[in-house]
Amino acid sequence: MFGGRRIVLGVTGGVAAYKAILLCRLLVDADAHVIPVMTESAQRFVGRATFDALASEAVKTSVFDDIDPIPHTTLGQTADLIIVAPATARAIASYAAGLSDDLLTATLIATRAPVIVCPAMHTEMWEHPSVRENLKVLSSRGVHVISPEEGRLAGGDVGSGRLASPESIFEAAKKLLCEGDLSGRSVVVTAGGTREPIDPVRFIGNRSSGKQGYAIAEAAQKRGAQVTLITTVDAPTVFGAKVIKVESAAEMDAAVKKNNEADIIIMAAAIADFRPSKSLTTKIKKDDGAPAIILEETNDILAGLGASKKKGQVLVGFAAETDDLIKNASKKLVQKNIDAIVANDVSAEGVGFTHETNAVTILTSDGQSRSVSLRSKREIAEEVLNTVVDLVKR
Ligand code: CTP
Repeated sequence: MFGGRRIVLGVTGGVAAYKAILLCRLLVDADAHVIPVMTESAQRFVGRATFDALASEAVKTSVFDDIDPIPHTTLGQTADLIIVAPATARAIASYAAGLSDDLLTATLIATRAPVIVCPAMHTEMWEHPSVRENLKVLSSRGVHVISPEEGRLAGGDVGSGRLASPESIFEAAKKLLCEGDLSGRSVVVTAGGTREPIDPVRFIGNRSSGKQGYAIAEAAQKRGAQVTLITTVDAPTVFGAKVIKVESAAEMDAAVKKNNEADIIIMAAAIADFRPSKSLTTKIKKDDGAPAIILEETNDILAGLGASKKKGQVLVGFAAETDDLIKNASKKLVQKNIDAIVANDVSAEGVGFTHETNAVTILTSDGQSRSVSLRSKREIAEEVLNTVVDLVKR
């Protein structure tokens, strides 16, 4: 069901920690790759040997006891989902305040994957305004909070604060990772501008920042897709996607060809149309005078994909234009034999390269067109994916 997707299971110190063992089992049985992270106090309630035996990897407990010098960032960046069950009032407070005081909270702060927090504590603590306010903050940031149930608590007390059942937490994880409208789909996204070498220190490049491509990759990941991001950009976060780093148009071409069986390919990268016909192995010296740089054409990667389009595959291109936006984009849509093109007028205020915002018109091969006014690249990403989902259904 989970297809080997990586779930970090954070266990903090409460009597309900034993239920995390059952949750771990359910997830592993459903083909999730579960990495348990226990806080120090969690280990007073359940032994790490139990998780070691049941999870997909050995328990991790500290930022310092790993051979990886930055286990929290590695865990945070590669996770598809993080579940904290049980989550104590302290863990919730640290997370809400952005305090990375142990491996688990550091991992939570280092991730862009979805997070499920499952509080468990005594009724008085559960009802305390500080806990409620911290959870409100987390919810407003998109964290999924699974409220505790009523029932028997530690010490024989009865009330609300009991950890939600492992089955209901499992269902929430399933919903997030397996029931998005792109769940089970493989999606390739290209991002950034290519660099075409002139000599070992110089290149021909363009102004693309990769932000729109990254936003699409992240949004697709959150909608359940298995994402491969082919990028020229060294961005710090990868939100669980498989990342392939490339530099030139030729490297991008090779990486896309290796992944051309994907269900959906979205070419957001700005790929050079021309490269120096010769890339020198030694630096051009000023004393030798201004060189003449002869350019040759690169492969049109998207047109290549369009020419050998797989059955049912959805291909999406971008058209960065400065004039005749719709006319030029429509021409590319037809010539490249693709399903949709996202046209943006990069000469307009706040649109395209390097900006945090974008405004686009999405044209599809059945003649439909939808304009999306200026908004964040994340929102544009969702609009592009809405079109993709429509195309997948056809
Ligand atoms: N593209 C590609 N390979 C290239 C050039 C572009 O796959 N060598 C893709 C881009 O990723 C984009 C789409 O084609 O999705 C359109 O790119 P754009 O630069 O707007 O158009 P070009 O086809 O290069 O035409 P022109 O530069 O003349 O506008």
